[in-house]
Formats: sequence, structure tokens, C-alpha cells
Amino acid sequence: MSNYSIKHLEEYYQVYRKSIRDPENFWSEIAEEHFMWHKKWDNVLRWDFSKPEIKWFEGAKLNITENCIDRHLATKGDKTAILFEPNNPNEDAQHITYKRLHERVNQLANVLKDHGIKKGDRVCIYLPMIPELAISLLACARIGAIHSVVFAGFSSNALSTRINDSDCKMVITADGSYRGSKTIDLKGIVDVALEDCPSIKNVLVVNRINSKIEMKEGRDQWLQPLLDKASKECKAEIMDAEDPLFILYTSGSTGKPKGMVHTTAGYMVYTAYTFKNVFQYRENDVYWCTADIGWITGHSYIVYGPLANGATTVMFEGIPSYPDFGRFWEIIAKHKINQFYTAPTAIRALAKQNIDFAEKHDLSSIKVLGSVGEPINEEAWHWYNDIIGKKKSPIVDTWWQTETGGIMITPLPYVTPTKPTYATLPFPGIQPTLMDENGQEIKGNQVDGRLCIKFPWPSMARTIWGNHQRYKDTYFTAFKDKYFTGDGALRDEVGYYRITGRVDDVIIVSGHNLGTAPIEDAINEHPAVAESAIVGFPHDIKGNALYGYVILKETGESRDHNNLRNEINQNITEHVGPIAKLDKIQFTKGLPKTRSGKIMRRILRKIASREMDSLGDTSTLVNPEVVEDIKNNVI
Ligand code: WT7
Repeated sequence: MSNYSIKHLEEYYQVYRKSIRDPENFWSEIAEEHFMWHKKWDNVLRWDFSKPEIKWFEGAKLNITENCIDRHLATKGDKTAILFEPNNPNEDAQHITYKRLHERVNQLANVLKDHGIKKGDRVCIYLPMIPELAISLLACARIGAIHSVVFAGFSSNALSTRINDSDCKMVITADGSYRGSKTIDLKGIVDVALEDCPSIKNVLVVNRINSKIEMKEGRDQWLQPLLDKASKECKAEIMDAEDPLFILYTSGSTGKPKGMVHTTAGYMVYTAYTFKNVFQYRENDVYWCTADIGWITGHSYIVYGPLANGATTVMFEGIPSYPDFGRFWEIIAKHKINQFYTAPTAIRALAKQNIDFAEKHDLSSIKVLGSVGEPINEEAWHWYNDIIGKKKSPIVDTWWQTETGGIMITPLPYVTPTKPTYATLPFPGIQPTLMDENGQEIKGNQVDGRLCIKFPWPSMARTIWGNHQRYKDTYFTAFKDKYFTGDGALRDEVGYYRITGRVDDVIIVSGHNLGTAPIEDAINEHPAVAESAIVGFPHDIKGNALYGYVILKETGESRDHNNLRNEINQNITEHVGPIAKLDKIQFTKGLPKTRSGKIMRRILRKIASREMDSLGDTSTLVNPEVVEDIKNNVI
């Protein structure tokens, strides 16, 4: 018997030890007992980190939507699968039952097939947080198409880059979206993106805001009339365990975004098993993750993990501040939410508001609180614990990544004693280790180093779409035979992990992972700019904000600097998206560089963070004099 649901600490250690001693048996028992297969696997695991090649449950046949929907129909057909809470609090919430979800997924799957989408084709999904978003993921999975969701806050440029990188055939979008008191013209953004995307044959448009939009003859169609005509039955495509399920882009420290490829069986088993244990989900609980499905958190812990467990998962269309800062707490009271999963940046923003916003709502339904996306600082942790959890609901600080597919280091609620700012212990099957700069494993406790994982887990990304070499270089080259996370961490005296942050050029702003390169490229597109470098600096709410150092060309020097700042941010909005705008821009004559021409970001980071006294050794720079100048003009 597998230990599918872990109930106390002793049991956690026992299960953990078993998962390390005999990973193959451990995972095959879970896979066998809790999922539906058309054929079982020939091999549980085959792996080689030097290639790298990772195969889980090879030879098995399945369809993830049968596991997420069909198998629940007999016992839970009338249970709410997706509970949709609209942006406007006066619009009714929608309860989509498993039975109805089955019909709607099948109808959309049939529409996709009618438009020539087949197994292995890529479909780009650019939708707001409305039910059609979750349904689109599942409809693709139903017929074996690979979904590539692009967060609907990204610009047309970011969208076209992602569409072209994986040659998507179709885009599913909406006329527009609601965001607080604003509406956003999504279809307009898609139209601009598609000027540059020859692979797109069709665009299906959800009518969300009833706006007058342009429909390009022969390419664009409203979705609803097509759904109305489509059959509610669609046989699931039988997939191989290692067939790609989706591509999801994440920023790298250099170059274009990386299309992380996740495959079917391992991803399903791992997200389902982590969901069950990290949130201690019980039948009839109502679970809410506030992330957008455009990020991995939404893929794994709004859609696949919860539905594989037959759970009720909430989708919220709006924002925490609309119509006021009590909206999250109002929704928790309204739907009697039992598990609530959000990001530190939201917690910090809400903790700043009048306490009445939280206290006037009945939050007594809450059993588990979750945090994800960046380190949670001590102050935010305590506010979350005291004001929202009333000191009785454990906080699960879950560390993981787009690349890991599922939660890796986390407390289990009511099992693992929590410790503020610590993600605590590895989930069963996960073998973390800390490495020093010489590539040696750091043994013992009370140490810090670079966080690596020594052994494969079922939901790890298998490659970067179209660029396996980059996958190898990014994750498997820094440390031999180990997956390198890009994060630093420390391990305390009892073996708890605390994630200290990125050790590469990725900056996490409001929980969004931003690479420096694409933002610098956007800045450099400005005709008055010669060169630029961006770094993060601490920010009360966002965690980190962006600070740009910009060298102007001669033509720029004579221009009004504030106008230039606005134009630079406008460029960033167009090329990357508004989340990547710079809070501060300092114009400078030079950037500190090493002899090999590399910008010394460490120095720029310290200056932007106003830690001027600890700049360290600057003698290896070719131009040490610029450091003084930058210090004197810091903003
Ligand atoms: C990076 C991954 C995985 C879902 C959302 C982010 C940081 C994530 C934590 C945490 C400290 C965290 C890491 C990681 N991060 N969770 N609980 N404590 N840092 O996914 O966009 O791929 O970003 O987010 O730096 O490497 P992502």
C-alpha cells in the first residue's frame, strides 16, 4: 500500500526514507493505486543527467483528462469542479460540475479537431482567468495537442516571440478582459502579435466583454457558436507517458524565454500527489489558489493537481484591490474556502491596508494557508499567520519552479512544524543538496550554498522546446550530475531549508520571474540609448523592484531626462509587459566592467540597494572610476 496521504511527522520521515531508498517502487505504487491507465509502464524510471535524459513510466498509456474528469463522473458528477468568481462582485459565481466540465472540454476538443488540430500540434492560449482558460488546457490535453499558455498580461511582442518559438497553429483568446475597474483589449494585442506569426492558421475568440473587435476573415471566429454545434462526446486520445503535455515559457538570465516542456504521466502523478499532501485536501473542501493559470502555479495547482484529486478548485478573475482591499477575504467568507494559496507580494500589499478589511470577514473556514513564488519575509509571514490564519492554520511556504513542475520543498500542514521564512523539508522523492563554488557537496547542517537536486522526480521538465543543448547548459552543467536550481539556500540545524534567492541574473518582481536580458534589449531599442544594465533592489511590496542604469548616446544627452524615462518604460511595456517597468532610472556615463567586458552587476546591485559601504573589490575593473560617479548620482 502506498502512503498517499501523510498524517504525522513520523510517517513523513518513514515515507521520505522509503522514497529515497527505493524510488521506483515508491512511485510505481502511487501511480498504480491512484490513477487510471490504458496500459501500465514497462520501466518506472530511466535517467542520465549527463545527456540529460529523464523518462518516467515509459511505455504507459493514458490520457490526463480521463484522470482529471472522466473517472470522477460516476461518483462526483454533480460536484463542483471549477468554481468561478468573476471580477465584478455583483456578477454571479459559476459552479461548473464535473459532468458539465466533461461536456465543455469535449465540445472545445471537437472544435479544435474541426480546425485541424491534431496530436502534437501546439496551441497558444492567451486568455484571462475565466473558465474557458482551464477548459482550453484540458481540451488540448483531451486530443493530445500541446498547450502553450501565455499570461494575458504579456505584451504583443512577448506573445509573438512565444508563438513563433514553438510554431503554434492556433490562438485561443478573448475579445478583452476585466481587471478591476479597467478593461483590457486582448484581441487588439493578439492582432498586433499575429502580424508577425506565420504559423497561426486560426484564432478562436471567447466573448467576455462584449466589445466590438475586428475579425480577420478566414482566420478569426467567435468561439461560442462553434461550441453550440459541437458534440459533447470526444474520445480521449491515448497518450504515451512521455508525450509532451504542455510548453510553458520562463525567463532565463540570458536571451529569449525558455519553453519548458512537461510530459504527461510523471507530471500528473507528481502534481496530484503533492496537491493532496501539501494542502491536506479532504472531500468537500473548497480550495483556492490566487495565481493566474498563465504561470506554472496555475497549471499545476489550479487545474491538474486539484482536478486529478476530484477537488473543487476556485478560479478568480479579478484583483485583490477591487472593489476594495477586502476582496480576497470576502471571497474566502463567501465560498467558505478551506485552503488558500497566494504569493508573498499579495500578502505584503494586503498587510499594508486597514486591518478591518480582513477582520470584518469570517475567515474561520480556513485550514491551510499557502505561499509561493519568492521568499516570504518574517513580517509578512507573521501577519498571514496571525491575522488570516488566527494562529491556527499552518502556513505552507512552498518552494518550487516552472522547471520542477510541482512543489519540491515545503512543510506538510499539521505534520511538519513550521518556521517563519523556511520552506522546511523536501517532499517525498526529492533529494536536495547544497553545493559550494568548487562544485563540492556541502555536508552537515547550518550551512549555505547553491541549491541542487541529486535525483530525478516525476514532474521535472524534460527539455527546452527546440533547444536541448540550452536545457543541458542551464540546469545540468554548473554541477556534475545534478540539477541546478539557480537559487541559493541555507540548511539549519535540523535540516530545514531556507531559500535565500536567485544567484543568477533573474530578478523576482512581485513574484514574477524576470530575466535581465530581454528588459535590457527593450531599453536598448530606444534610439537615444547606447547601453544599459538592470538590477533588483529591495521593495516593500514587490519584494524586488527594478533599477536601470542607462548610458545615453550623444543625441540623448540633450533631451529631457524625465521624458526619456517615460519612453524607456513605454518600450519595456511594449516589448516585455508592464510588470517589467523600471522603478528608477539613473543615467550614467559608464558601467563597471571586468577585463573580459562583463558588467559587474554585483556592484550595481549594491549601489541600487544603497549598500555603498560594502562594494567589495573593484580593482579588477577596467574602469573603477565610474563606480564613484554612479555612487554620487544614485537615485
Ligand atoms: C523561482 C521560480 C513555482 C511557482 C512560482 C514561481 C522563487 C518560488 C519560493 C519560495 C523562496 C521561491 C525561486 C525559484 N521561489 N517559490 N517558497 N521561497 N523562493 O515559479 O516563476 O519558475 O520562479 O521562484 O527563486 O527559483 P518561477
